[in-house]
Amino acid sequence: MKLFNVFLGLAAALAAGGCCGTGGVNSASVLKYDSFNPGQVWLDDNGRHINAHGAGAIFDNGRYYIFGEHKLGGTLGNKSVVGVHCYSSDDLYNWKDEGIALEMSGDPNSEIVRGTILERPKVIYNPRTKKYVMWMHLEFRKGPTAKSADLKDIYAEKPDYSTARAGVAVADKIAGPYKYVGSFRPNAGKYPINGADGLRAYRAELEKDPNWKSKKFKGEERKKALARGFAFLRDFDGGQMSRDMTLFADDDGRAYLGCASEDNSTFHIHELNSEYTGFTGRFARVFPGGYHEAPAFFKRGGKYYMFSSHCTGWAPNPGRVSVSDEMLGEWRELGNPCRGDGQKKSKTVPVEAKADTTFRSQSSAVIPVRGKKDAFIYFGDRWIPEDAIDGRYIVLPVEWEGSGEGATPVIRWRDKWKIEDVFKD
Ligand code: GAL
Repeated sequence: MKLFNVFLGLAAALAAGGCCGTGGVNSASVLKYDSFNPGQVWLDDNGRHINAHGAGAIFDNGRYYIFGEHKLGGTLGNKSVVGVHCYSSDDLYNWKDEGIALEMSGDPNSEIVRGTILERPKVIYNPRTKKYVMWMHLEFRKGPTAKSADLKDIYAEKPDYSTARAGVAVADKIAGPYKYVGSFRPNAGKYPINGADGLRAYRAELEKDPNWKSKKFKGEERKKALARGFAFLRDFDGGQMSRDMTLFADDDGRAYLGCASEDNSTFHIHELNSEYTGFTGRFARVFPGGYHEAPAFFKRGGKYYMFSSHCTGWAPNPGRVSVSDEMLGEWRELGNPCRGDGQKKSKTVPVEAKADTTFRSQSSAVIPVRGKKDAFIYFGDRWIPEDAIDGRYIVLPVEWEGSGEGATPVIRWRDKWKIEDVFKD
């Protein structure tokens, strides 16, 4: 999409209440879906393609809600100009536009001023405070135009991912409006509950060089240093990086933020405090040097699972699934959950069916289906960074290979499917 069209689109969107993307159709003419059609344009109740990328999902008072990045057209859409868009549904096929739950700010001094990069928003409910709590990945605007409200400046700013902060907002009602509270580099000055002795020893080793923090490692050396916790120790005083993230609210009332940290090399799982707006100080370093992004947690039969990806930016890569007995426990990788013979180089398998690109998607959420036993749905993004608003959603059933303790969650490509055909119980 040409830049000119992007601005026209934005002007129209703002005139329509600041919440709308590409052209809608008369809602009376919108068809009702009775199946999922992964990768196709997916219309909301206004006849507009659902605009909730990097989404999180929650079930509340009998309805499903998703919250995601509202994208504009073109590459401008990779910055956040509008905010976090919310939709609700009672059947998971048909989604009602609930509007913008968290609006980007017009105040140039706000941490969420328009043009900030705001990604992967997730919402959980806190039964103690009765508040809905949203967390999101934030990358602040930087450079000489950082305070400009001009969309041309926002468009021209080079994406900069060095902020790596987790922002938090709260609301009294699920669909918002959410009030932005602030942001964190989590757990400054704290060691994790696992492997602290090794980190302390490595720190003593590094500190022999007074300039250790600016030390540059290359190739294998770099991999080794990151896995041992070099970036962790470098960021110890100021707090740990938090990029691709997700939330998980457990049934014992505890909640967690899981995020790509340490220059993306190591995943962190932080326990949230009782308000869910900060940290208890208990956290685990998971898969040191493993480069996990795009996390999505779910729980089945007392075990915790995480879908994730490798780190290749907007380009898809082979998916990953891991399991643990405890959120802050020992996580074990189970490999690529995608089944099917499609390999990247295959000329006969259509691109969307290729198992080694997660069917051209990257995980964003796993949605438990209410009223069905052990039924979960994989929700992923098929990013289109050149025209961000056109990004598609890959929705596939999670199936299980094997049984009992060793069962592995897997996903298979389907052009079209229905919940009742896959989940029988
Ligand atoms: C991906 C990440 C997205 C976005 C993108 C930017 O790896 O999962 O959320 O940050 O990189 O290149």
